[in-house]
Amino acid sequence: MEQYIVKGGRPLKGSVVIGGAKNAALGILAAAIMADETVQVDNLPNVRDTRVMLQAVEGIGAQVQYIYNNSVQINGKLITDIDVEYDYIRKIRASYYLLGALLGKYHEARVALPGGCDIGSRPIDQHLKGFRALGATVDLDHGMIYAKAEKLIGAHIYFDVVSVGATINLMLAASMAEGETIMENVAKEPHIVDVANFLNSMGANIRGAGTDVIRIRGVKRLHGTTYSIIPDQIEAGTFMAAAAITHGDIQVTNVIPKHLESISAKLAEMGCTIVEGDESVRVIAQNRELRPTNIKTLPYPGFPTDMQPQIATALALASGSSLVTESIFENRFKYVDELNRMGASIKVEGNTAYVEGVKKFTGADVDAPDLRAGAALVIAALSADGFSSISDIQYIQRGYEDFETKLKSLGGQIAKVDNEHDAHKFRLSV
Ligand code: UD1
Repeated sequence: MEQYIVKGGRPLKGSVVIGGAKNAALGILAAAIMADETVQVDNLPNVRDTRVMLQAVEGIGAQVQYIYNNSVQINGKLITDIDVEYDYIRKIRASYYLLGALLGKYHEARVALPGGCDIGSRPIDQHLKGFRALGATVDLDHGMIYAKAEKLIGAHIYFDVVSVGATINLMLAASMAEGETIMENVAKEPHIVDVANFLNSMGANIRGAGTDVIRIRGVKRLHGTTYSIIPDQIEAGTFMAAAAITHGDIQVTNVIPKHLESISAKLAEMGCTIVEGDESVRVIAQNRELRPTNIKTLPYPGFPTDMQPQIATALALASGSSLVTESIFENRFKYVDELNRMGASIKVEGNTAYVEGVKKFTGADVDAPDLRAGAALVIAALSADGFSSISDIQYIQRGYEDFETKLKSLGGQIAKVDNEHDAHKFRLSV
């Protein structure tokens, strides 16, 4: 199995180009099948999750062709199948976006019910409530969700919880419903706006994405387009946190600084200097002590839950006590035991982590428990004294393209290895 071997202790310095947003890509790749013409998606992050989504799209009969590493063409004209197999859902929950896309286009979809997940129970009741409001019958049987409608009719939907997934799934279905849909209490994340912009570039009529209310006037058909995905807020935030954790100086480029405000604000509170450019943010933390602060995860524009492990890792090196409250997912502190094995001092009670800052981490062998926590552990290792290994890096590969290459370009001493011989060679070489 592949793992990362890291020798820590060097501040990360330099500039790093951020790729396209994974979570926008997952919605956009599903939406792309709704046209019967060729859709080209550029700035596509080439990560495990997007590759699985493309396999799922191919699995139902859409044509998929990579143009370059980060561009793909999709044509949904020849779709023959409305069934999305459990195999894809098991690998990425977001393949349930094909439910909204297929229901909108063909008025019928059968998708495996997503199972339990690593960061807490993740119900999809709001998705199903929305589909029913549009006139679909939704049945759960033998682990499958079967949604069907004679016709989809626009409706007024009020979501009980703010859900990224439900907002996107319903935007997809309602784009091709008859009449107007009004969705209230929707998620406002940058990738919601990106999926809406993408659908509009295919001829949909969606207004209000990025606010609490989205209005959609359904259209009969969607057409081909060429579209470039926005930069990944969380990949950028991860490298920004890496500057703080390693006491380095990193500029993230090809980003939208506004999307990073909640992260920039917290890093500034912690004593980092933030320099915003038009399409870049620089985080300077060299030779300075990090200050403690409190963080609570919230839907956008609040502090993102997907940045919680990375910022908690930085706070674990601050000069004092911090509180980290996780209010989106119930089980997102599984990395804490691993970080404590590297010398951190964090206690978790319920949805709160009590972080007592320590002077430094020490290298250890740890397992990545999930995508973002895995990235946080790699960066912790880059700041730690001595060698670490991080196993289960398939989680990290779900969402970070060329992670170790980018870290190396910033001066990080890291190698991806799949055998003890190469691990040994790396240890001797640094
Ligand atoms: C998306 C992101 C994920 C991020 C999360 C929150 C993608 C592919 N994934 O996940 O990286 O961590 O947003 O920003 O974009 N909920 C319900 N009922 C529902 C749906 C959700 O109760 O029908 C609850 C969830 O349990 C959770 C909260 O709502 O507590 C937010 O979940 P949601 O925004 O739907 O997250 P995802 O779309 O799964």
